[in-house]
Amino acid sequence: MKQEMMVMTKQVEIAENIFELTLQGKLVQEMNQPGQFIHIRVPRSDLLLRRPISLANISKENETCQIIYRAEGEGTKVLSQLEEGTKIDCLGPLGNGFNIEEVVENDVVFLVGGGIGVPPLYELGKKLAEKKAKIIFMHGFANKNAIFYEKEFSDLGVLMLATDDGSYGYKGHTGDLMNKALKVHPNPKAIYACGPSGLLKSVEMTFPNHPHVYLSMEERMACGIGACYACVCPSKKDPTVNKKVCDEGPVFKSGEVII
Ligand code: FES
Repeated sequence: MKQEMMVMTKQVEIAENIFELTLQGKLVQEMNQPGQFIHIRVPRSDLLLRRPISLANISKENETCQIIYRAEGEGTKVLSQLEEGTKIDCLGPLGNGFNIEEVVENDVVFLVGGGIGVPPLYELGKKLAEKKAKIIFMHGFANKNAIFYEKEFSDLGVLMLATDDGSYGYKGHTGDLMNKALKVHPNPKAIYACGPSGLLKSVEMTFPNHPHVYLSMEERMACGIGACYACVCPSKKDPTVNKKVCDEGPVFKSGEVII
């Protein structure tokens, strides 16, 4: 983990209220695992708490990375209005990402994402595509206006889309997409998911005994480095023991924590 004043080189609104922000700096050379996040200090003096945002895309060659976030709270709204060239205090990369060691060429893998949980699946998809895995993305959004990276994900594998209101793709949720995909591919080698707790629970329930299910938790954080216990969730083996999402997660193996 390092701290650096990274330079914001670009910012684009890629869906309704969803922004893709590009950062440039040496810190990118430390970013090795899909699913990790950076902890950003929004450059306004009264906003003291950093914001954890997962890494959506990493380019070591250009020393750039992209983060994707929804502008909904005070901090992210400020972030969405920053000018190109602004220097942003970034800490990272933080947390444990997705384990892709067991995946080999031609393995079928399911990547399941919901809303603003989708972005880290892009960098993960790139890494799995490098391994020549057969990737099925299953993404759920509230509606058509919330969808982003349709072409980018389609370039890496098969993209199945669902919307809550049926305004685009399948009307329903990612649980329905998983059931459809299982009819064609009944034995995926690994399942990776990121999104709200309902989505993660449905992945756990669909694959109760699967050995390679990885779930990335979305949890409120403060310090981001394991020091304040703001982000804990109970261990499944012993619910009196808490695990820190920032430090021991955000990616956990299915069955490790109570979602
Ligand atoms: Fe402080 Fe996780 S945010 S311990």
